[in-house]
Amino acid sequence: MARKKFYVTTPIYYPNDIPHVGHAYTTIVGDVIARGHKLKGEDVFYLTGTDEHGKKIETAAKKKTKNPKEFVDELVPEFKNAWKKLNIDYDRFIRTTEKDHEKVVLKILQKVFDKGDIYLGEYEGLYCTGCEAYYTERDLVDGCCPIHKTKAEKLKEKSYFFKLSKYKKKLLKLYKDNPNFILPKFRVKEIINRLEDLQDLSISRTSFNWGIKLPFDNKHISYVWFDALLNYLTGVGYLKDDKKFSKFWPADLHIVAKDIMWFHVVIWPTMLMSAGIKLPKTIFVHGYWTFNKKKISKSRGKVINVNELISITGNVDSIRYFLLRETPFGDDGDFSEQALIDRHNNELANKLGNLVSRVSGLIEKFGISKSAPKGVPLDMQDGVFGGKNKLLKKLNEAKIEKLFENYEFDKVLNEIFSFIDICNEYVQNKKPWETRDKKVLYELKESILKIADLLWPFIPESAEKIKKQFSATKIKKSEILFKKI
Ligand code: ME8
Ligand code: MG
Repeated sequence: MARKKFYVTTPIYYPNDIPHVGHAYTTIVGDVIARGHKLKGEDVFYLTGTDEHGKKIETAAKKKTKNPKEFVDELVPEFKNAWKKLNIDYDRFIRTTEKDHEKVVLKILQKVFDKGDIYLGEYEGLYCTGCEAYYTERDLVDGCCPIHKTKAEKLKEKSYFFKLSKYKKKLLKLYKDNPNFILPKFRVKEIINRLEDLQDLSISRTSFNWGIKLPFDNKHISYVWFDALLNYLTGVGYLKDDKKFSKFWPADLHIVAKDIMWFHVVIWPTMLMSAGIKLPKTIFVHGYWTFNKKKISKSRGKVINVNELISITGNVDSIRYFLLRETPFGDDGDFSEQALIDRHNNELANKLGNLVSRVSGLIEKFGISKSAPKGVPLDMQDGVFGGKNKLLKKLNEAKIEKLFENYEFDKVLNEIFSFIDICNEYVQNKKPWETRDKKVLYELKESILKIADLLWPFIPESAEKIKKQFSATKIKKSEILFKKI
């Protein structure tokens, strides 16, 4: 049987500034999920990238007196470097200015046009450049964008429209028939309410240049969102690598935050329906991070970029751990340096670090039972030390797997760390430094190796160090994994 596949994506971020903790969060979660599926032996494709067209980028470039391409070319490495530092193992970093992507956009625009789902009209509305979206009066707060708090501009232009409104019933049916299409489930209601007055979508612009020209009218450029969403097709080889595309499409999971839920759960599936392409299986919508309870934004509040983030503990794994442990995936969260340092000290250093250094020190000093006979599952090893691994039995792996599948990463970590507590207590109670009981040390070693496996998606660098240390023929006490702050 063919191996199972798993295709997961992040949003493609606007490279109008360097990435901050919010972008890092989504990208880390994507990496954790991708690694979790790799651990299960699946063929995984993890896509991230940058969204490079549109007015927002054009305006930002102008401010720096650069042309847009030149401008994004300088910012893209900032994203790539940040992801490298955070140990993000993506399969492709897509840029919407790449040739293969442009081809896909042209093709889909033409398909949707040929289907009769695009018509020429005139648009007058209130536009937020920050969102690259029109708002209705009702959505605005005192005439300002609810997200960016800036005044929405009145714009009037000839525009092509996509017949979004005709898909209302199909969307409702989609959500009803596929209860996992939008997760967490509590988000669905809001969308259904907003579908009430679903309008057709303006998908072309004439007021600026930076974008992809419509194949059927070169005076218009494509609306940046119509262009951007299609990255998920380009990323796995649509029109370019049929084998890859048919293997990985449809996407198993698009991860986004609530700011861009509408585009992903309403516009995106409709575009695909119109083009006759299969729909993604799940859109997971997570919450928003604040920084010391304040909005993360350049104009109002504080931004914390990836380098600043890493310098707080000097350890990438403590950031990855913190972001996944602090807040249930889906909810809003608050980032503070103190909360990060506390978890680094109390959980990673005191619990995990302590277990690893203590047990490796004891094994170095007193030795360990010979390993179990090959091919015998751990919980059935009777021969070597006349009993099963009683310690490892206290770990509920099935429960952890279930929690992971349900995207409850905070609980996954909680469960693993409860077992780490049990291991630390085991050392305390069994006193191997007095008894010199090599069997106890063997049980601990096997448990630590298991812990390293389970933690690998979350803290890959540390987990790999632990694995290496405890798989060596001569186990030795090593450098401290997490230095206390
Ligand atoms: O919207 N908390 O790009 P973008 C949590 N180009 N996540 C946050 C966050 C915060 N405070 N701030 C940002 C765009 N994010 C489009 C996407 S996709 C086809 C096109 C994360 O640079 C979160 O994932 O504004 C959010 O959805 C995304 O960054 C928005 O990134
Ligand atoms: Mg944004």
